[in-house]
Amino acid sequence: MQISFVAPTDVTAGAWVVGAADGAALLPAAVRADKVCSGALTRALKFSSFKGKAGQFLEVLAPAGTKASRLLLVGLGKPDAVDEKGLETLGAQIAGRLFAAGETAASIEIDAPKGAGIKKGEIAAHLAFGARLKSYSFDKYRTRNLDEFARKLKTLRLVTPDVAAAKKAYAGLDAVADGIFLARDLVNEPPNILYPVEFARRAKAQLSKLGVKVEILGEAEMKRQGFGALVGVGQGSDRESQLVVMQWNGAPASKNKKTKPIAFVGKGVCFDSGGLSLKPGNAMMGMKGDMAGAAAVTGVMLALATRKARVNAVGVIGLVENMPSGGATRPDDVLKSLSGQMIEVLNTDAEGRLVLADALTYTQRRFEPKLVIDLATLTGAIVATLGFEHAGVFSNDDELVRRIQDAGRYTGERVWQLPLDPFYDKMIKSKIADMKNIGGPNSGAITAAQFLKRFIEKETPWAHLDIAGVAWQDGEQKPTIPSWGTGWGVRLLNRMVIEHYES
Ligand code: BES
Ligand code: MN
Ligand code: ZN
Repeated sequence: MQISFVAPTDVTAGAWVVGAADGAALLPAAVRADKVCSGALTRALKFSSFKGKAGQFLEVLAPAGTKASRLLLVGLGKPDAVDEKGLETLGAQIAGRLFAAGETAASIEIDAPKGAGIKKGEIAAHLAFGARLKSYSFDKYRTRNLDEFARKLKTLRLVTPDVAAAKKAYAGLDAVADGIFLARDLVNEPPNILYPVEFARRAKAQLSKLGVKVEILGEAEMKRQGFGALVGVGQGSDRESQLVVMQWNGAPASKNKKTKPIAFVGKGVCFDSGGLSLKPGNAMMGMKGDMAGAAAVTGVMLALATRKARVNAVGVIGLVENMPSGGATRPDDVLKSLSGQMIEVLNTDAEGRLVLADALTYTQRRFEPKLVIDLATLTGAIVATLGFEHAGVFSNDDELVRRIQDAGRYTGERVWQLPLDPFYDKMIKSKIADMKNIGGPNSGAITAAQFLKRFIEKETPWAHLDIAGVAWQDGEQKPTIPSWGTGWGVRLLNRMVIEHYES
């Protein structure tokens, strides 16, 4: 699907998409379309329940007076609800209709309703972004009935009075869409294809051509450096574990040397069988997605580099496969982490925190970042607590939490804070080592976060996002998000960078 931005012209083919405000008040382009078609829209309105509510549609096929194949009237709802997120949803809904209709071309000409707090050019850009997000599909393993899945829409034109502003705004959003699509692809790939070495290879291939410095540490190197926790998780697998370090130095040259980076750390368990503490069959399904934190980190690094963000950022992802075997870590084993702290492993299915522990230590010691945010599909308990609508956040810094929550409200990736507290910390006391890797039967998302906190040094501002409930979804429950890998977090982190860390 090719997206372009053009100044108002006649629509000579395909669908002509125009807007109406709340109360079915036709916006200027809709008035023009109505005139061209001798009142086809006004007549149709009389026989329809269309009220201009957000996401409402009215369709007139093959109207006389125009070469357009159809007029699609779109409701924008109340003006104050016409914001970036709302327009993206609308763009996705429009694209969905066009895909379903089998259209090959379309022009979207939607004006700002009075009272909307968004500029003309930006409207077109965010509609286009939503449409692009909707265009995502993962069909590489289908070989039959491809027609059923094909998207026929080849050209999508956004008609706007401010082409230059729209193009500029869209360039940044297009980069974010690239990052989201990369993250979704990585999550959707089956684990026989995407194992740690392959993930690392793809990250390097995609990012280094954009100017990101990508280093890959293999298992032998990690063993040598003392990554006992991460290596302990991967040692039951025939696949080699990897650590990928991605550096984007986009801060202006004058500051570049001094500017400490912000750091993103991702859990990358390419398949989580549970290890010797084997998951039951049903719970194991979908565990190819247990690398979604690492995928989001890789995706946001791609977005930042593509749009040449003026920021220094590092992404560190720990890639492993958690498998049972004769060489696997046992429940009761004690592992020495990179930090030096000793961990008694009582359940090999609580592996994500072991991977993150070493990745966090490495990131802090090497880069002294001004903050660290980790993303991980860490616990089933967060799904039991917050379901699929919020990620959980745990942090030692309330201002950082606020920034994350604000960014998430803007992008639609909502985040709810849960507590850290010395009380919960007691729950991970070990009888023989510094800590154990599980808490009690309750508050599992909190004890996991409490575990991670033990690997935060020198009061580095840190936030942990437990994304187990939001990283993938079954079925299309939101217009901009497809079934399975969601790419959750790419937009949010990118937004935070724009708001607070870009110079
Ligand atoms: N990857 C899982 C968490 C998970 C569960 C993600 C469901 C997405 C959906 C994690 O490694 C895990 O197995 N956690 C255990 C921890 C327990 C053994 C302390 C859990 O949540 O059951
Ligand atoms: Mn697990
Ligand atoms: Zn896991």
